[in-house]
Amino acid sequence: MTHSSKNIQFVVQPDGKLTGTLRVPGDKSISHRSIMLGSLAEGVTEVSGFLEGEDSLATLQAFRDMGVRIEGPIGGRVTIHGVGLHGLKPPAKALDLGNSGTSMRLLSGLMSGQAFDVEMVGDASLSTRPMKRVTVPLAQMGAEVATTAAGTPPLKVKGGRQLHGISYQMPVASAQVKSCILLAGLYADSATCVTEPAPTRDHTERMLKGFGYPVRVDGATACVEPGGKLTATTIDVPADISSATFFMVGAAISEGSDITLQHVGINPTRIGVINILRLMGADITLGNEREVGGEPVADLRVRAGKLRGIRIPEEQVPLAIDEFPALFIAAACAEGETVLTGAEELRVKESDRIQVMADGLVELGVDARATPDGIVIQGGALGSGAVNSHGDHRIAMSFAMAALRAGGPITINDCANVNTSFPGFVALAAAAGLQISSSEA
Ligand code: S3P
Repeated sequence: MTHSSKNIQFVVQPDGKLTGTLRVPGDKSISHRSIMLGSLAEGVTEVSGFLEGEDSLATLQAFRDMGVRIEGPIGGRVTIHGVGLHGLKPPAKALDLGNSGTSMRLLSGLMSGQAFDVEMVGDASLSTRPMKRVTVPLAQMGAEVATTAAGTPPLKVKGGRQLHGISYQMPVASAQVKSCILLAGLYADSATCVTEPAPTRDHTERMLKGFGYPVRVDGATACVEPGGKLTATTIDVPADISSATFFMVGAAISEGSDITLQHVGINPTRIGVINILRLMGADITLGNEREVGGEPVADLRVRAGKLRGIRIPEEQVPLAIDEFPALFIAAACAEGETVLTGAEELRVKESDRIQVMADGLVELGVDARATPDGIVIQGGALGSGAVNSHGDHRIAMSFAMAALRAGGPITINDCANVNTSFPGFVALAAAAGLQISSSEA
């Protein structure tokens, strides 16, 4: 247990079903970006539905540390007194970004354009995550960002460098890298373009436009020109489809379930989980589809059904990148074999999600075999047992839902980081019918 000082342990009793109508917390990706762009805008930005989780709060604190006046969050409402693109102040100490890879990677781009030096640090997990994917293109722009010899945090960003526009072909499909480069591009002396090998979440592009900053998108390429400004706006953050996923999978696998998840973001770059679950035979319907502040949302109704194993189409991988731990639970409850390939990125998330999930599934008696870039899972019966989340929020919540179909209780260790993305998970899951308890072990 290296990731948090406390071992928060979940014990989940088997059986049960998920019913009712509920709203999961705000989208993490959009919450981060609302603080970043709101801080750099001119005027006062009002955010509602903000995720009050540790990751987005780390971003909020970082901007407070750089002199931005931010009120809240109170009930998901945040008021940001923007300081303009050149109004940030040097922080008194290193920015502590906790568990949050998104904060560190996006900020590395933004910080490269500032007049002052910044150091960024993170927790044990973040301190092992690859940062060369951002420092290499930033160096091409003329930035100076130092990592450890292993290419990991802490990051030391030199201020006062003139950045130059580049055209960058991303080797990995990563929205964090794309966003980092585009944000650095706001401070460059010429146009900056990023081309992605496969579609990834486009919240940065959409939100820049929402703040009145032009972004040119042509196929797989997004470009920004320098010299623009961000104008304060209002942002209604939809519920996070990545958090909704645990309930979607839980309802899909447990007989008698019927759940409605309200106001969920269904941006086309995020709906791989819906596509994949439907290919497996899940019963998911979208209602009340509408657009809020440039992002599509809907109410999702999920009813229990019979799932079948599939070969997951590789083009769905970047569209469901955070949803695989939960999808592996669906696969374990399906009839037949599920094969995932082309997902080596899962090995460098908050944990090695391929290995940690394979280990936990095997512990529960499932035939699961990790491969270098994916996993092969034979659907069948889930037993009871104790698994370790390795401090990874999404692993903890995935195994909690697995109990709905398990032969006995499931104990999950090292769950404190559920608070990074889903504060209130235990209470909300219990209200929906999961027999879950949480304690400090
Ligand atoms: C995110 C992008 C994804 C995702 C992460 C959030 C973002 O990472 O896994 O949870 O907000 O841009 P990559 O872009 O590295 O795949």
